[in-house]
Amino acid sequence: MKIVIVGTGYVGLVSGVCLAELGHRVVCVDTSPEKIAGLRQGRVPIYEPGLEQLMARNALEGRLSFDTDIGAAAEEAEVLVVAVGTPMREHDGQADLRQVMAAVDAIARALTGYAVIVTKSTVPVGTSRLIHERIRAARPDAAFDVASNPEFLREGSALGDFMRPDRVVVGTSAARARAVMDELYEPLRVCNVPIVNTGLESAELIKYASNGFLATKISFVNELAGLCERIGADVRDVSLGMGLDSRIGSGFLKAGPGYGGSCFPKDTRALARMGQENGMAMHVTEAVIRVNGIVKDRMIAKIIRASGGSVAGKTVAVLGVTFKPDTDDMRDAPSLTILPALIGAGAIVRAVDPQGRCQGEALLPGIQWQASAYEAARGADVLVVMTEWNDFVGLDLEQLARVMRQPRMVDMRNLFTPENARTAGFNLYDAIGRTSEWAVLEECPAPFVRASPALPIVVAPPGLGMNGSSRPRPDAAAPGPSI
Ligand SMILES: NC(=O)c1ccc[n+]([C@@H]2O[C@H](COP(=O)([O-])OP(=O)(O)OC[C@H]3O[C@@H](n4cnc5c(N)ncnc54)[C@H](O)[C@@H]3O)[C@@H](O)[C@H]2O)c1
Repeated sequence: MKIVIVGTGYVGLVSGVCLAELGHRVVCVDTSPEKIAGLRQGRVPIYEPGLEQLMARNALEGRLSFDTDIGAAAEEAEVLVVAVGTPMREHDGQADLRQVMAAVDAIARALTGYAVIVTKSTVPVGTSRLIHERIRAARPDAAFDVASNPEFLREGSALGDFMRPDRVVVGTSAARARAVMDELYEPLRVCNVPIVNTGLESAELIKYASNGFLATKISFVNELAGLCERIGADVRDVSLGMGLDSRIGSGFLKAGPGYGGSCFPKDTRALARMGQENGMAMHVTEAVIRVNGIVKDRMIAKIIRASGGSVAGKTVAVLGVTFKPDTDDMRDAPSLTILPALIGAGAIVRAVDPQGRCQGEALLPGIQWQASAYEAARGADVLVVMTEWNDFVGLDLEQLARVMRQPRMVDMRNLFTPENARTAGFNLYDAIGRTSEWAVLEECPAPFVRASPALPIVVAPPGLGMNGSSRPRPDAAAPGPSI
């Protein structure tokens, strides 16, 4: 089967390479001549483990090629996949469909025989129908159908996710398109991958619903982490105990500095917007978005507290800037909110990331990039673990503590333990959702800082903690430094 993939970003390139690996003939098309020239020479423009090797093999074996000319590529193609970007529109939070519509117009011009136009980009409900109308208007003569086939791969494990997905969702109302899509995914169906056949609207919404739900789990656990810090519980134990319940599941229950990346922030915003536009407010999703902002404020407050109440003139060493490990993608990473806030408050920020510097340099002006964690930590007043890259797990904490001016750590990923940090010579270790494990609290009794407007809370009777215990809450009322 011949397939054209339009857009060679994280989704398009991985999809193209994997569909070639499944035995199809694939042409990947992009408007960027530099990208296509590099891909033809075997250069992968993104960091995705295993992609370069798989791409090279499929290109060598003649199943995969690259082009800027969709007209030539579309000849004899039975499936044309739209996999271009749908970034968030700043003014209203809705998905910006300009790349999609430009790709659709180019496809309309290129159509020859019957083809299925597949939307793999994440698009608001109703877009596939609009695409159908747009192509029909441009090409009344063309034989085509549309299908929605949202993508669920995760950066960092994209190849495995594409080749062995939990499910494939295909939305279409056309029997002929359904048959073509069945053939496209036959190699996965025979491996027992569930194929969920739906209408166009349901397929489009499944993508937003899935990302909205996963983001909900993350915001929920991040909010719990804040509560854990106040009442002496350990969020890792709470997550474990919750996640083992098969009705809940253990995924996406790891507390951290908030969700980021190219999908969750924009897709939650778009889902909320879709609700508003259709008179059905998505209250849960709106709260999830709000909590994600509050969590980042809490992280900023933690760093300020660990720095003794102010970061002005202090050096902050940051390990990791990407939104998660094993990707170079910097889109909407929490670091893009947290680090500029620190710099704005007068901090000198030194950062290291195994893959994030290339994109990060333009997005994070004022950061001093370092080649290693030890260089970043030299002379620093606080060390911040922002991304849980494997490269950081094996760091020599003693050496880090030794080269710092003040050996203090804010571990936003619970990568280390207070015991390890203390033994290594750190005199302050603050993690996420583990208040009871503060080391040397007495050295830095700065108050809890709340940089975002708080939601109303029920206050326990005087002298009682929120769990009814008589443990005092020293941080309850004191105002924190503002930044
Ligand atoms: N990145 C992810 O992890 C992920 C996962 C699932 C779904 N998605 C969704 O998939 C879509 C693509 O995301 P991405 O991260 O791959 O985007 P991306 O920005 O990495 O890639 C988009 C590519 O499309 C190209 N392009 C733009 N307009 C074009 C046109 N008219 N013709 C040909 N090429 C064109 C760009 O040059 C770029 O190479 C988005 O809707 C996204 O929400 C992304």
